[in-house]
Amino acid sequence: MSEAIRASDTPFSVEVESGQTYYWCACGKSSQQPFCDGSHKGSEFNPVKYEATASEKKYFCGCKRTGNSPFCDGSHKQS
Ligand code: FES
Repeated sequence: MSEAIRASDTPFSVEVESGQTYYWCACGKSSQQPFCDGSHKGSEFNPVKYEATASEKKYFCGCKRTGNSPFCDGSHKQS
């Protein structure tokens, strides 16, 4: 399995809306980070679906190394 591209060295803060569905980019290739734009097609990666249950600020993983996708777990601090 190939490694995801590191899209950012820090998480993306997003004000999500309750009831909305989001697709987090797992491959790192999307130009609409942190969300999927379809660029993963043809790779082994697939976006991660997230349904917001509250309107609030969330921190989506940008380094694509999180163990708690689609959210940041601090993995970007490791090399
Ligand atoms: Fe990265 Fe879709 S563009 S998962």
